[in-house]
Amino acid sequence: MASAPALRLGVNIDHVATVRQARGTAYPDPVEAALLAIAAGADGITLHLREDRRHIQDHDLERLLPMCSVPVNLEMAVTDEMLQIACRTTPQHVCLVPEKRQERTTEGGLDVAGQHAQIANACARLREAGIAVSLFIDPDFPQLQAARGLAPNIEINTGAYAEAKTEAERRQQLVKIASFAQAASEAGFQVHAGHGLNPENVAPIAAIAEIVELNIGHALIARALFLGLPGAIAELRQVMQQARGRLSCDDSLASISGLSQRDS
Ligand code: PXP
Repeated sequence: MASAPALRLGVNIDHVATVRQARGTAYPDPVEAALLAIAAGADGITLHLREDRRHIQDHDLERLLPMCSVPVNLEMAVTDEMLQIACRTTPQHVCLVPEKRQERTTEGGLDVAGQHAQIANACARLREAGIAVSLFIDPDFPQLQAARGLAPNIEINTGAYAEAKTEAERRQQLVKIASFAQAASEAGFQVHAGHGLNPENVAPIAAIAEIVELNIGHALIARALFLGLPGAIAELRQVMQQARGRLSCDDSLASISGLSQRDS
């Protein structure tokens, strides 16, 4: 049995900036948090420069990039302004996400099928700038089909799984994500996942062998209030690694749907 590839943890620092913006102070500094997260073992740093600049600011990205010893993943909407910023600053990765001003956080994945030309054009501009693109999509097969050939990576939206109200719904979402991850990997994508993950619900997602990266923010920064950022990262890593150790690449979807949650 081959063992599952390593699972990377991308630490999303947006909500350090949320606290800073709440008071208009210079602290807490998300760049300082990124450096602390890297020292605590983060494999990548993720930040979302939103159109309304509600948390991360342009100067955060500009200060972070020259200091960051791990890949930076810039989440951004498919707009001309954001494409210009990305092509000028050239983070290693860009994750394209849908964005609505009224939303509290990213709701749902990109409609790659419905906005194919616009997204294909954005992917081409980013690729020309040497940036590896990821498309944030719901685990729906038409989206996977539409994403083929546009980008090397996809990030599966785990929001519906995280927000499931019943155990049956959660299990249904998990099976959907697992079969989608398998199909995406077979189609040649590097498969990432994220949204709404926390130490209580991350294990079954971490156990999906085709997923090679998780991007986690809100729960990690919330937990850091009590444990400190290194403690919160260590806690999450431990759950991820334990879950990962239970499965190998040869394990099937059937074993995924039989997994129990850490707290169940
Ligand atoms: N991945 C993407 C594409 C996102 O937009 C977000 C939220 O910024 C996350 C992952 C992280 O989600 P959460 O903050 O719920 O961990």
